[in-house]
Order: sequence, then structure tokens, then C-alpha cells
Amino acid sequence: MTHLDVRDLACSYGSEKILKGVTLSAEKGEVVSLIGPSGSGKSTLLRALVGLTLPSAGEVRVAGKAVDYSSRKSVRELRSQLAIVFQQYNLFQNMTVMRNVTIAPITIKKRPKAEVEALAAELLARVGMEAKHDAYPEELSGGQQQRVAIARALALQPEILLLDEVTSALDPERVNEVLDTIRRLTDEGITMLLVSHEMSFVREVSTRVVMMDDGKVVETGTPSQIFDSPTHERTRDFVGMILKH
Ligand SMILES: Nc1ncnc2c1ncn2[C@@H]1O[C@H](COP(=O)(O)OP(=O)(O)O)[C@@H](O)[C@H]1O
Ligand SMILES: [Mg+2]
Repeated sequence: MTHLDVRDLACSYGSEKILKGVTLSAEKGEVVSLIGPSGSGKSTLLRALVGLTLPSAGEVRVAGKAVDYSSRKSVRELRSQLAIVFQQYNLFQNMTVMRNVTIAPITIKKRPKAEVEALAAELLARVGMEAKHDAYPEELSGGQQQRVAIARALALQPEILLLDEVTSALDPERVNEVLDTIRRLTDEGITMLLVSHEMSFVREVSTRVVMMDDGKVVETGTPSQIFDSPTHERTRDFVGMILKH
């Protein structure tokens, strides 16, 4: 069954239409990357999917079940299935790494502390942060903080992970450690929607690439279709420009 199915999704900020009918899907375990120029609506799409921005039209199905964004219960259920990580990792500065990762599952999901801490320890090891349980965010590099943010998202045990330019705010030498973390997750078969400017990485890990422009999907294809033989001029221009740099 299609894990995430988005049909004709529309979204506005005030009177301005931002998403103009976006259709895409991801099968279980797929890594679907969104590329396209700045302002094309990639972040808005991810935010709309988790209900941070209310869609004005269209349909979203998770594992076949339609999401009702006007229902708190439906959105709560959705948020137990989807987790999002942003460019700005926004860790709680006054909490240790362990507390950052465990607070939502313990306080919001009411899961037993010992169980959540065991899971958190496992996740922190997976992102290479096992030695930093008791550190505070300000003692960590940006790359380390972003890895903690990824562990924090995974602690909610999402089925689908949305990653929005999670390496864009990092120093260049820190980018690879976060990409390595994501690469490992893709090997584990979690369904992922990925927005990234790291084109060689997108090409390597994606099962499909979606090119967006002006609030719409221009073209969807395998990485080699999109990067080697794009059908649309807009994709050709974008890919050509990005790959030159
Ligand atoms: N909170 C907001 N209020 C008004 N307009 C916004 C807001 N966030 C984004 N936009 C506008 O929505 C459009 C799409 O933005 P965004 O989804 O951030 O694109 P991308 O992530 O592809 O760069 C842009 O024109 C942007 O200016
Ligand atoms: Mg964005």
C-alpha cells in the first residue's frame, strides 16, 4: 500500500496561493526527494503535511487513511506517524541531550521513562552521539546538534520522516556526518521525504526525485531521469545550474 499519498494539495498564506495542487506519493521505505528553486514551496509542503500550515484543498493519506487536518484527533494521530526535522534544529538549550530526546515521548506520549531512555540511548548511538548524553546543546557543534535533533524525531518512532534542508545551516566540514546519519536511516527502510541542496547525496539515496517550481510539481522521476535526462526545461535549467556549482 502507498505509505504517503498526496493529491492536489493546495495551501495559501493569506490571499497568496503557495501550493497550487501538489500530487506525489511514497511507497513504504522509499526516499522521495524534493528539489526546486528557493520559494517553490518545498518547506510549505512539508509543513502542510504535518499540519503546521493548514492545507486549503486536496487530500493526504497515510497508509491508506485520509488525514482530517481540521480534527485534533486526526492531527494527533498523524503526528505519531510523521516526524519533521528542520534546518534550524531548535534543541531545548536548558536540557541535556538525553532530556531533549526523551521529553516528548515521556510527557506527550506518556511512555515509561526507562523504556524511552533505553530507546534514546540506542538512537543516540545510531547517530554517533552516545558519548554526549549529559551534554547541553551549547557544548555541541551544529552537526552534533542536528544529529541529536534527528534522534529526537526518531524517538517518536515515526513511520515517515520529513527532513527539510537539515544540513543547510551547518559548517561544510559538518555536513557529511549528518548525511552519513541520514544514509544509515535510508538503509533501515524508513520512508523519507527529503529536501536537500546536496545533489550528489540526493542522487545517491533517492528512489524518486520530485522537481517543484512555483507551488507545483514539474516532473517526477528516478534520480537518473531527473539528473541525466530531465523532460522539462525548468528541470533542465535547475539541475544544470545546481550541478555547475
Ligand atoms: N509564513 C509565511 N507567510 C507568508 N508567506 C510565506 C511563509 N512561508 C513561506 N512563504 C512564501 O511561500 C513561498 C514558498 O516558500 P517555501 O515553502 O519556504 O519554499 P522553499 O522551501 O521551496 O524555498 C515563498 O514565496 C515564500 O515567500
Ligand atoms: Mg525551504
